[in-house]
Formats: sequence, C-alpha cells, structure tokens
Amino acid sequence: MSLLHHLILYLTLLTVVRGDILRPRFYSKTCPEAESIVRSEMKKAMMREARSVASVMRLQFHDCFVNGCDASVLLDDTPNMLGEKLALSNINSLRSFEVVDDIKEALEKACPGTVSCADIVIMASRDAVALTGGPDWEVKLGRKDSLTASQKDSDDIMPSPRANATYLIDLFQRFNLSVKDMVALSGSHSIGQARCFSIMFRLYNQSGSGKPDPALEPGYRTKLDKLCPLSVDQNVTGDLDATPHVFDNMYFKDLVSGRGFLNSDQTLYTTPETREYVKMFSEDQGEFFKAFQEGMVKMGDLQSGKPGEIRSNCRVANRRPVDALLES
Ligand code: HEM
Repeated sequence: MSLLHHLILYLTLLTVVRGDILRPRFYSKTCPEAESIVRSEMKKAMMREARSVASVMRLQFHDCFVNGCDASVLLDDTPNMLGEKLALSNINSLRSFEVVDDIKEALEKACPGTVSCADIVIMASRDAVALTGGPDWEVKLGRKDSLTASQKDSDDIMPSPRANATYLIDLFQRFNLSVKDMVALSGSHSIGQARCFSIMFRLYNQSGSGKPDPALEPGYRTKLDKLCPLSVDQNVTGDLDATPHVFDNMYFKDLVSGRGFLNSDQTLYTTPETREYVKMFSEDQGEFFKAFQEGMVKMGDLQSGKPGEIRSNCRVANRRPVDALLES
C-alpha cells in the first residue's frame, strides 16, 4: 500500500473513531453565506426578544455534554425514543428552539441539505455572545447531526443548580475541561434568566437546614425572597446577573459581592479551588473573554463518534439508527 493510501486510511479511521474533523470556514465553498445567515437570524431573534439569544446559547452546553455536539438536544420525542427535551434539566426550562428552526429554514433555502443543526447551535451560541457585547471568535465546523437522543443520558449528566464547585470541577474534568474552563464557561450566566424553581431550596432550605444559603448577601436575599416567595409560581424568572442582556464580567462581580443567582454560581466564589478565577475574571474582563472563548471551542470539540447525517428539520432525524448501521 502506498504512503498516500496509508494516509487516506488513517484519516478515514480517525473520522470513524473520533468523529468528524472540524475546521474553520467549513462551509466556505458549499454555503458561503452560512455564517452571515446565522448571525442575521440571531439578530432578528434578539430584536423580537432580548432573552432568546441567551436561551439559544444554553443549547450548546446541553447539546455538547450529552454524547457530543450533535444536535441531539433538538430532537422531538418519537414513539420509540424519549428525547432530551423533557430531561430533568431541560423540561420547562430549555427554550427558543423556534430560533434554531428559523435559522435552519433560512439555511435550507440558501443551501439545501448542507449545514448541520449541530453546527447551527455552535454558530448561534457564538453569535449570542458577540451580539450582546462579548467576544467574537472563529468557530470550527463540520459536525453531523445525531439520529437519536437520550433522555437518560441527559438526566445522568446535566448538573443541577444545587451542584457545588467540587462536583462541577469533577464533571467538567470528565469532558477534558479544566477548572479555569469551568469557571469561565459558568460566566455564560452573564446573560439570561432562571426560574424560582432553581433557587427555592437555596432561599428556604439550603442543605436541609431550613434556612437560606448564608453566602447570600442580605439585600440580594430580600430581593429574591420577594421575587420567589414560598407560594410563588415557580416558573417566574429572575435575572442571572445584574446586566442580563449584556455579556460582560458583571456575573463575576456579582459573585464576589454574594449576589450570585444559582447555588452553582455562588459556590464558585465560596470554594477555594475556584475563587481565584472568579476574582481574576471580576477584575479583568479581557481575561474572562479569552478564557470563555477557549472554553466554548473546547466544549464544541466534544463528539460521540456515532454515525450522523445532515437533518433537513432540526427536530426530526431523516434516517433511523438501524438504517445507518445497515448502510455502513
Ligand atoms: C457549570 C454548570 C452549570 C449549571 C449547574 C447550570 C445551571 C443552569 C440553570 C439551573 C439555569 C436556569 C434554568 C431554569 O431555571 O430554568 C441555567 C441557565 C442558563 N445557563 Fe447554565 N448552567 C451551567 C453551565 C452553563 C454553561 C457552560 C452554559 C453555556 C456555555 C450555560 C448557559 C446558560 C444560559 C445562557 C442560561 C440562561 C438561559 C435563558 O435565559 O433561557 N450554563 N443554567
């Protein structure tokens, strides 16, 4: 076998075993307008509802951590498959799927069957950050969409708002993400909102104590008590930081002053292993932006290595897994 054949075989194996090879400007020939179409749809979504871009950005986390960035999170349930949309961390919580649908529709018009839903999530998440005042970076593309989703895997993996920093460090480590990556990526909570549901235990019964989390700054606690009294409809939402429409380092400043919304946020300041990063990011927005974009690129590299496709509708797989196996 010639050297060239060896090389081709090696690259093929790499693609099969490790997933698709991702690279910047993947669609420059096949769909040159892809990235600008995504950005313009995200702009439109932001004008319609400022929060929607944060909600779309969250999809990257919930997609990539569950069997890689393969748009599994976007699949609707089928009679044979419990998808991820109704998983514990996602039900009544993940939102703005219609923004992804609009992006997909615009892309299908421009270049049918070309741009994967998994890549849409990655581009749109980057755009959410850039459009709200955060950094802008080049994304690697070329992902395929999964044929299935797994509610169980999502339930097993996605962290609860009660999680503490030690748990989160371990979890992110499993995905090759460092302590610094984890703290920086939590800075995504610089935009968006969360439900009272996610903080009731913190306000009224932290760790079964029958008392609020002592790390809560008293003035902020009073504000949260008013927003989320015991009798509240737990779908009422509050801002994740003091500037929920601007991607900045206010989230970290808030943590330093005991004004983190979620327990998983505030614990990053109360725990020694993560505290120095919180301090650093609160003092230096440039450092935060740099670490955040690095973390997003690393998270975007997660792949399952399973067979994939380019879906024509992000909510529905074109092929069945069994057909994919027969074809391979
Ligand atoms: C470090 C572990 C993390 C935990 C425990 C966590 C947990 C949560 C929770 C509980 C909510 C609110 C859900 C609700 O009440 O409905 C939320 C919202 C959000 N999360 Fe995270 N998250 C984490 C990391 C991330 C990462 C890595 C990203 C993205 C890179 C992200 C992006 C977001 C965004 C943007 C929102 C607001 C969404 C909206 O307004 O609709 N989170 N997160």
